Amino acid sequence: MSDIEKDLVHIARLALEGRRPDLVAVVRRSLRSLAGRRPDLKEQINAVLTLASASPPTREASRLPIPADNDSRAELIRRDDQPGVAIEPTWPAAVEKALGEFLLERDREAELRAAGLSPVRSLLFIGPPGVGKTMAGHWVAQRLGRSLLTLDLAAVMSSYLGRTGLNLKVVLDYARHQHAVLLLDEFDAIAKRRNDDAEVGELKRLVTVLLQAIDQWPSDGVLLAATNHPELLDAAVWRRFDRVIEFPCPTVPEIRSSVERLLGASAAEDLGEILDTLAALLGGQSFADVARQVNAARRASVLRGIPLSEALTELTSELVRAAPLERKLQFARELERQKRSQRTISQITGLSRDTIRKHLGKGAPTGGRK
Ligand SMILES: Nc1ncnc2c1ncn2[C@@H]1O[C@H](COP(=O)(O)OP(=O)(O)OP(=O)(O)O)[C@@H](O)[C@H]1O
Ligand SMILES: [Mg+2]
Repeated sequence: MSDIEKDLVHIARLALEGRRPDLVAVVRRSLRSLAGRRPDLKEQINAVLTLASASPPTREASRLPIPADNDSRAELIRRDDQPGVAIEPTWPAAVEKALGEFLLERDREAELRAAGLSPVRSLLFIGPPGVGKTMAGHWVAQRLGRSLLTLDLAAVMSSYLGRTGLNLKVVLDYARHQHAVLLLDEFDAIAKRRNDDAEVGELKRLVTVLLQAIDQWPSDGVLLAATNHPELLDAAVWRRFDRVIEFPCPTVPEIRSSVERLLGASAAEDLGEILDTLAALLGGQSFADVARQVNAARRASVLRGIPLSEALTELTSELVRAAPLERKLQFARELERQKRSQRTISQITGLSRDTIRKHLGKGAPTGGRK
């Protein structure tokens, strides 16, 4: 099915189910992308888009204002009506499979319901920092065409304590009625302060409110939680989630793919060998750290007017020079396999030619090709 056909099916389903806020979101996205391809339809499309913005939402709930703290008036939850990710994420195979199954159940919800079953409702994302847990929340909401409500529990737990947990209750009640995706980010924050005696009572009440909300979450709702400290969550918490998805640290090929997507396909094609080297050197790092360094090189390329290949080669050299000896030697062997001269290997790695000779043997030519 083409994208436009998929959108048509999606739009038909939302219209027939009377889910107007979701329908408006999908119609907007779909028509905007169509307008880019069919300038001849621009006027009609604009007319429909105006209609979509002007009509009042029919759902009682979506008219509710975002709840705010009584004293500070700060909003208690972040609402994103057009969630999305700027660059398509690289999902490790197991994550891709699990997220794909989750979305498929939603796509074929009617069949499941006809068989007396409900789709999976809640997911717990676990994994180290910077591997895409929060990003997955945005990505899932985008795929489902729903708004994303993000509740950062690290912020909430500190500011809500002493406010009798009322704020949390208000926020969860609001979220429950929004037909949106609720992301409970930094979920371990609910467990972290357990040892602080003075706050134990209050904290327990907050945790109870939260766990009850998860238990009673509507079956057509989507509840996601993310944590990089799963060991802090006790069994009572784990049990409440329909499914746990583990986000691993990316492998070298996954790092390469994420770098390619950052650079764009055509730039990446010209940089084949540099990207192989770079990805190998970035091995063991998170997607977030990879993106930070590659984006710094992209900025350097623009601001200093140097080719991207040069900026990335500089990054490669920096990474090698900062690496421990064993890693440098590993990389030197890789360069040797590429038939680089000992002089070049020494220049790139910062290792003396003596060290190279000692560890790599006589493999590397002493002069010749750079
Ligand atoms: N799967 C991925 N593919 C491509 N880029 C990614 C991926 N995951 C993360 N990134 C990059 O890393 C950044 C941070 O990711 P994200 O905030 O989702 O990490 P996280 O797992 O939630 O980390 P934390 O535990 O620290 O909250 C993203 O904005 C993106 O640039
Ligand atoms: Mg996160």
